[in-house]
Amino acid sequence: MQRELYRSRRMSLPAILGGEPVRKEPYPSWPIYDKREEELLLKALRSGRWSVGGKLQEEFERKFAEFQHAKHALLCVNGTAALKIALKAMGLKPGDEVIVPAYTFIATATSALDLGLRVVYADIDPESYTIDPESVRKLITEKTRVIIPVHVAGRPADLDALKEIAEERSLKILEDAAQAHGAEWRGRRVGAIGDAGIFSFYQSKNITCGEGGAITTNSDELADKIWSLRNVGRPRTGPWYEHRLYGWNYRITEFQAAVLLAQLERAPGLMERRERGARILDELLMQVDGIDPLKRDKRVTRHAYHLYIFKYDRREFSNLPKQKFVEALRAEGIPCSPGYRPLYDYPFLPSSSPLPNVEKASREEAVWIPQYVLLSEKRDLEDVQEAIEKIKRHADKIPR
Ligand SMILES: Cc1ncc(COP(=O)(O)O)c(C=O)c1O
Repeated sequence: MQRELYRSRRMSLPAILGGEPVRKEPYPSWPIYDKREEELLLKALRSGRWSVGGKLQEEFERKFAEFQHAKHALLCVNGTAALKIALKAMGLKPGDEVIVPAYTFIATATSALDLGLRVVYADIDPESYTIDPESVRKLITEKTRVIIPVHVAGRPADLDALKEIAEERSLKILEDAAQAHGAEWRGRRVGAIGDAGIFSFYQSKNITCGEGGAITTNSDELADKIWSLRNVGRPRTGPWYEHRLYGWNYRITEFQAAVLLAQLERAPGLMERRERGARILDELLMQVDGIDPLKRDKRVTRHAYHLYIFKYDRREFSNLPKQKFVEALRAEGIPCSPGYRPLYDYPFLPSSSPLPNVEKASREEAVWIPQYVLLSEKRDLEDVQEAIEKIKRHADKIPR
């Protein structure tokens, strides 16, 4: 009897306080592959063209451009290099200014800093966590050249408002779509809605080959420059030792393209599953007071859901800080993260006075769940709700 009681107490206590976790089974693993990757990798191996001139690279570039509704897609080593190449191709010079959201991955800023550009931080919209166009407007100076909206989590930023500003002030837009493969803004896929866009194929990404990146654009002129910049400044046609631009060796290999081609074939089905998982999770989490899934803008006709983000309100959880809530949720077997810190936190990056919505999202509100969780079934997603409710019931007992 005593033991039964002890057992049920352990069952109902949060795992962070020594109880049983809600979930002991892992969520679907990522990355995934099957025979198709193996087949294409062998094809790459046997082709004898492992770098420049590889046919699978060309095939992927053609198919990925089509997938993203862009005229061109050009592969390179990673998303960070893609940002650097794109900014250089846009003709930016040291001292020119770029506006980035302070709520993003560090590479959005470091790629620009590497080129001697000045990085200026904009605030984010409190409902979408993407760059706030009104904040951008206030930061424009004579030196501003490019706005870099980041499609955080796979949700497109407000490209209508940003394009309007860019046109008014003769600025360029470089979409950081590192997390937004297949995402759509009013029926059009991201990446070439602005002047150019970049993607990452890092192993956590929805389409991956371990490490990789791509730049998309509708401009023939930019595409030629990008081709050259990633290939040590060589022209598309001409002798091997001719270098017309200051470029880099940021080329990818045929093996990565082989994996990417297989991943791209699987992408549409997985996109549907993530959307379905996100709808289920929205319904489940909306029932919990103090948890608010990010609202969906009607113009986002497809969310890539690289991440599922919800807002956490500590007031409904006995004032438990976000960081502790995330620790407690992880202990229950739910993969999650507190997400980005504001970029101005890092002492080696440009500083800024605190931006209110970036502060709130990063320090208090935003909780991220990785995309592979959305690939699971309804009963697996119910565990997320159950774990949160359990933590809530005992939040006053969790040490701060
Ligand atoms: C928003 C954003 N920008 C840029 C990058 C950089 O991509 P990579 O890691 O492939 O260099 C990432 C990748 O994590 C990202 O999430």
